Amino acid sequence: MMKSFIFDLDGVIVHTDHYHYLGWKKLADRLGIYFDERINNKCRGVSRMESLAIVLGKRAVDFTPDELISLAAEKNEYYRSLLQEMSAGDVSDDVLRTLKELKKRGHKLAIGSSSKNAGVILERCRLTDYFDAVADGTHISHSKPDPEVFLKAAGFLGEQPADCIVVEDAVAGIQSGRAAGMYTVAIGDAVKSGIADRNIAKLSDLLL
Ligand code: BG6
Ligand code: MG
Repeated sequence: MMKSFIFDLDGVIVHTDHYHYLGWKKLADRLGIYFDERINNKCRGVSRMESLAIVLGKRAVDFTPDELISLAAEKNEYYRSLLQEMSAGDVSDDVLRTLKELKKRGHKLAIGSSSKNAGVILERCRLTDYFDAVADGTHISHSKPDPEVFLKAAGFLGEQPADCIVVEDAVAGIQSGRAAGMYTVAIGDAVKSGIADRNIAKLSDLLL
């Protein structure tokens, strides 16, 4: 059975994870809240509002629900301005080569992302046509580690979960893939979790 690949987007296909970091850092600095890469790693794979709760920490109780929504919008506005600078040049040769070769070998490819900005990122980076399906933050009510987004992606592909391979940089994403009953591959920050079926150093290791 030819396996299908479901890729996380931010931090796996493109380095928008760094732009998320810059967005949260700017908000945290304005509010006088300490924020660093370690805290940012906890935001990987989780939704915008859940990320905000992580960024605010104990300070979350100081804000009304409406204020929380406007803080998340403030971060998203700055993040979107960074996305506007993205182009095809932001996709590494290693990632492009891997996607092309997997398609050539006959694998179906999908995106499984918690982000509501996935569509705009794929368009700006000229990546939309590489994927047979995109499941993102606009399709789900529960973000990773819940399996919803990966099950949605498998459904869009018309594949059984057991025939899908998840590629993730978030610990929450590996948990999500496992809960979906899929084979999991960790890259980047997720490698440290030690719970993935396989760890890789770069995307093209998938071709080995
Ligand atoms: C995930 C990121 O892909 O999307 C998270 O790893 C982010 O860091 C989440 O919080 C939601 O993204 P967005 O673009 O909808 O704010
Ligand atoms: Mg990610």
